[in-house]
Amino acid sequence: RTVYLNGEYLPETEARVSIFDRAFLMADGVYEVTSVLGGKLIDFEGHLKRLERSLNELDMPKPEAFDELLDIHRELVRVNDIDDGLIYLQVTRGSDGDRDFAFPDPETTAPTLVLFTQSKPGLANSPQAEKGLKIISIDDVRWGRRDIKTVQLLYPSMGKMMAKKAGCDDAWMVEDGHVTEGTSNNAYIVKGGRIITRQLSNDILHGITRAAVLRFAREAQMEVEERPFTIEEAKTADEAFVTSASAFVMPVVEIDGASLGDGKPGPVARRLREIYLEESL
Ligand code: PDD
Repeated sequence: RTVYLNGEYLPETEARVSIFDRAFLMADGVYEVTSVLGGKLIDFEGHLKRLERSLNELDMPKPEAFDELLDIHRELVRVNDIDDGLIYLQVTRGSDGDRDFAFPDPETTAPTLVLFTQSKPGLANSPQAEKGLKIISIDDVRWGRRDIKTVQLLYPSMGKMMAKKAGCDDAWMVEDGHVTEGTSNNAYIVKGGRIITRQLSNDILHGITRAAVLRFAREAQMEVEERPFTIEEAKTADEAFVTSASAFVMPVVEIDGASLGDGKPGPVARRLREIYLEESL
C-alpha cells in the first residue's frame, strides 16, 4: 500500500515518524475518516471543514498541504486502486525532538500529516446491516471536548472491548443518565416514527454522516427531535441506529439485553440507510 507522509507518497514500510512526535507522546493529534464508495469520496467537504475546526480549537497549525488534501485523497484512491474503503487522515503537532507539556514553537515545528487507505470491498453491503448491532451501555468518562476529533481513543477502544466481552458489538456511552454517543458513531432512537438524537454541543462529535442523514430525513418529511434521551428510553424505543463514515446508517436491535421491536432492523433505520447510500453514490 502507498501512504502519504508530509508531502511524499511512500510504501507503507518506508513511512517514518519521530518517537518524539506529540501524537505518540501526548495524543496531540486530530484525525478524519472519509469513506470511499465505487472510487468516490463521500462527504469530503464536511470532513475537511471539521478538520479545520479541530485544528483551530487546539491551536494546531494547518499542515502546508491543507489546500491539496482533496488531490491527495484522490491520488491515494487511484494508486491503491480503492473501490470501496476508507481514507484515514491524521494531523499531529509534530515534534521538536524532546518531550515537554508546553506546545513547541509553531514557527520552527511543522505539523505531521499522514494519510493511508483501507480497502473494504463491499463496504456498503455489510451483512451487519441485515443483522443489526447489539449494544451495551457504559459510563462516558471521556474529556469534555468530544466535539474535537482527537486521537485520544483509548476509552472508546476499551468500550468496544467491554462490548465484545459481553458478546455484543458496540457500546453507547452514558453521562448523567443520558446517552452521549457510541464509541465511534452517533446514536439515535425512533419512537412513534420520530427520530430522536442528542443535540450538538461539546458533549459529542458533530458527525458528518449525522448532518447528512438528518437533512435527508427532514427532506423525506420524517420528524426529527434533537434532544438527550436516557438509556431507559432507548431500551423501550421502537428502533435504534447509529451513523458514522464507516458504518453509514447501522441498525441497533438490542440494548443492554433488551430487544427493540421484533429484534430485527427497524423500517426507519433501513429506509435512512437506503436513502443515505443512494444520495451518496
Ligand atoms: N468515528 N462519534 C464518535 C465518537 C466518532 O468517533 C465518530 C466517527 C462519529 C461519527 O462521525 P462521522 O459521521 O463524521 O464519521 C461520532 C470514525 C468513523 C472513526 O473513528 O473511525
